[in-house]
Amino acid sequence: MCGIVAYIGNKPAQPLLIEGLKRLEYRGYDSAGIAILDETTGSLDVCKSVGRVAALEDKLEEAPLTGSVGMGHTRWATHGSVTDINAHPHTDDTGTICIIHNGIIENYASLRTLLEEKGHTFTSETDTEVLANLIAELHDPDADMDLESAVQAALREVTGAYAIAVMSSHEPGVLVCARKGSPLIVGVGSGEYIVASDGSAIIAHTAQAITLDDYSVIRLTRDGFRTATIDNVALTPKVMQLELDLSQIELGAYEHFMRKEIFEQPKVLRTCMKGRLDRHEGKIVLGGLMSFAKELVKSKRVILGAQGTALHAAMIGEYLLEDLAKIPAECEYASEFRYRNPIIEEGTVFVSVSQSGETIDTLSALHEAKDRGALTLGVVNVVGSTISRETDAGVYLRVGPEIGVASTKAFIGQVCVLTMVSLFMARRRLMSPEASARIIAELETVPDLMEQVLEQDEHIKEVTAKHIDRENWLFLGRGYNYPTALEGALKLKEISYIHAEGMPAAEMKHGPIALIDEGMPVVFIANKGPQYDKVLSNISEVKSRGGHVIAVATEGDTEIRSLADDVLEVPEVSDMLSPMLTVVPLQLMAYHAAVLRGHDVDKPRNLAKSVTVE
Ligand code: F6R
Repeated sequence: MCGIVAYIGNKPAQPLLIEGLKRLEYRGYDSAGIAILDETTGSLDVCKSVGRVAALEDKLEEAPLTGSVGMGHTRWATHGSVTDINAHPHTDDTGTICIIHNGIIENYASLRTLLEEKGHTFTSETDTEVLANLIAELHDPDADMDLESAVQAALREVTGAYAIAVMSSHEPGVLVCARKGSPLIVGVGSGEYIVASDGSAIIAHTAQAITLDDYSVIRLTRDGFRTATIDNVALTPKVMQLELDLSQIELGAYEHFMRKEIFEQPKVLRTCMKGRLDRHEGKIVLGGLMSFAKELVKSKRVILGAQGTALHAAMIGEYLLEDLAKIPAECEYASEFRYRNPIIEEGTVFVSVSQSGETIDTLSALHEAKDRGALTLGVVNVVGSTISRETDAGVYLRVGPEIGVASTKAFIGQVCVLTMVSLFMARRRLMSPEASARIIAELETVPDLMEQVLEQDEHIKEVTAKHIDRENWLFLGRGYNYPTALEGALKLKEISYIHAEGMPAAEMKHGPIALIDEGMPVVFIANKGPQYDKVLSNISEVKSRGGHVIAVATEGDTEIRSLADDVLEVPEVSDMLSPMLTVVPLQLMAYHAAVLRGHDVDKPRNLAKSVTVE
């Protein structure tokens, strides 16, 4: 969702904010804006524009803003349409208070009525402008209500989620920031601070950052900072090192981040496994789980909660946990789990799977599971993210920052970590060292095998091009590759805007088969697994109705060539590890479809990275 960046220091703020916004643009990109407080004149100037950060830059070229305290925002609209007026930063009706906000103020309508009764006027349709006016209403430097106190008091009145940065023309050298439910970190430089939604906007300036817990407020000046709760209870700041380097967040020779991240997958998979596999002992070493190893061994049931691509990885995790560790496991939409009064018995482990570690649905489900007594684990990519901090234990993906809005390498990391977690539990429960060692040895070969799949990129592009005008696709798979089929369909629809459905191959004949007509592309994940013969029958059913079958099949499979119209080969590997290979041609198909249709691969329509609204 929205990206926010703010600066206080001695450098000109404008170039710094624009650079930060470009790094954060993947979080939201329907409009952008900056505000800078010129301390010499006391003027607070705002510039906003619908569209990308580049459009904002064009506007600023004509009328640059000066000053070294400021804030910027890249928006993913929630309240109000995409217009210059609704873009952030927002000011109160006197132009004294200026704010940027990521999140949703749920009680904004009642607050707005209250403020209107007090004479405030509004120009936008946003919840954020309400917060600006509420702070202004409370802010009274002459009556002991400085900006920090006014922000604290205002936040005590709001329900919902927020990461905010606020400045006031009455207190020029001060920046006040706060968070609840939406991410925010504060980079600490020398005599300067850069506040941002994530480290990508900070790392070019400093690797040292302060993390903030929910309900914390931080007051920044060039001379230092102070953190407290919204009730003004002083807090000890938590400082962390950002584990990022610039090459990870830059395109390099690639045209798109999604392509870069697909091609990085063998490398990040090796990093994900590094130091965690002990083939000789048949053991998995996961430091983040060690303090709860006993509880995990004794656990009676595992529930996995996630959304989107992470949910598809979690579904594979469900199969792995049952197959390897023999623990009853179930996976569900975190958003549904949260609201359905779930029963958590003693011995239940709840696993939150999330790339960002900030997805609000996944986080809320985690809170629900925790409140009901589950032991909670996080399978998360972003180090220090909310889910990683709020779970009892966890394992990081270590796949590096994922910038492309469509998740690819995080999926691979999630499946790999869930394989390792399943083996960790299996080996401590019942699996022999020999059996575990065999799986570990095979797991170690997956990155090399994945490189072979990537070599077929040109062929995958040609196959995709054949069907580029078709508006409806089906993705079908069974067992471990049923979630892969769901993931293939999701990737295609989110970046190429082609309608695609994924489902278990057997389900097709219970209704969706009616959709199949002459030439309809139907992608089968048809690797040589235990259900291979059944998949072949499903392929015949599609063929006899005129469908065009694209099969993701095991290398050297001649039988499938006589049935399918096109074959995308993956090297042979056991069924449980196969999704890490079979998903790759599907990611590339989606990528090529989007490029061939002329879409912005990294910033697809209506989407944003990290969904922090329910
Ligand atoms: C799809 C995609 C989304 C995310 C989902 C969960 O390509 O990126 O479906 O997977 O929003 O996000 P995280 O993993 O950050 O919790």
